[in-house]
Amino acid sequence: MEPVLRGEDLRKYFGNVRAVDGVSLHVMPGETLSIIGPNGAGKTTLLNLVSGIIRPDSGRVVVRRGDRYVDVTGWSPARITRLGVARAFQVPNIFDNMTVIDNLRAALVGATGVYSRTLKPYYSIASVEEEAWRLLEFFGLAGKAESLARDLSHGEKKVLDMALALASKPNILLLDEPTAGLSAAEKPLVTGLLKRLRDEAGVAIVVVEHDLDVVFEVSDRVMVMHEGRLLAEGPPEEVRRDPRVKEAYLGEEA
Ligand SMILES: Nc1ncnc2c1ncn2[C@@H]1O[C@H](COP(=O)(O)OP(=O)(O)OP(=O)(O)O)[C@@H](O)[C@H]1O
Ligand SMILES: [Mg+2]
Repeated sequence: MEPVLRGEDLRKYFGNVRAVDGVSLHVMPGETLSIIGPNGAGKTTLLNLVSGIIRPDSGRVVVRRGDRYVDVTGWSPARITRLGVARAFQVPNIFDNMTVIDNLRAALVGATGVYSRTLKPYYSIASVEEEAWRLLEFFGLAGKAESLARDLSHGEKKVLDMALALASKPNILLLDEPTAGLSAAEKPLVTGLLKRLRDEAGVAIVVVEHDLDVVFEVSDRVMVMHEGRLLAEGPPEEVRRDPRVKEAYLGEEA
């Protein structure tokens, strides 16, 4: 099997800060890849480089489309999304003053170009409506459809942000700390969603996550970042035992 996305020797410095300092990664179809590491390790910056939010100082990002790879380095986030790479955020990126269902309608209209009768693809309003409800059901938010997004719990906002990312029908979903700020009671909900997304939606997931219980439960593979570099990479059990990881990351938590 060939990767659906590759980042090659990516580098991004902010002044003297080597946020990402020569990191390569690949994402296999349908896998869940976790990226862990201490605060400031460069995890969010790496996601920003992959999703086009910031441009790398050097290195390349390529995305598979059919049987070839497209070099998307320097492309806008919107263009990269159209190649099947979607993104949810560390701080939920939702319209607080709109209802939950309207947030989804907006995302779907944006993703499908429903009002754009001259540009492909064109979808009907009815299909937007149907897809909005399908996503609400999948993410367990149907009961909150008419609630204003600002009235959701923090956990529900994180879930809504994930649902919005799915609007573009991605084959790669990038998630930045989906359980950040969630209570112990809310975390299993997100863990369950991550598993269902992989198993039922068949989407490859790249998840930055601090909660190691979540990481070791959902991941097929784990990458450990430290000071902008890749410290270790492998199956969860292997990474958990790696003494360098314990020292740089797990030790710090203990
Ligand atoms: N826009 C920016 N301007 C200047 N410095 C930045 C910028 N974005 C990130 N940095 C710096 O780059 C380094 C990596 O930051 P990044 O946000 O990628 O870390 P992170 O691993 O996501 O951390 P956290 O776990 O706290 O979210 C940090 O030292 C951070 O201060
Ligand atoms: Mg971060």
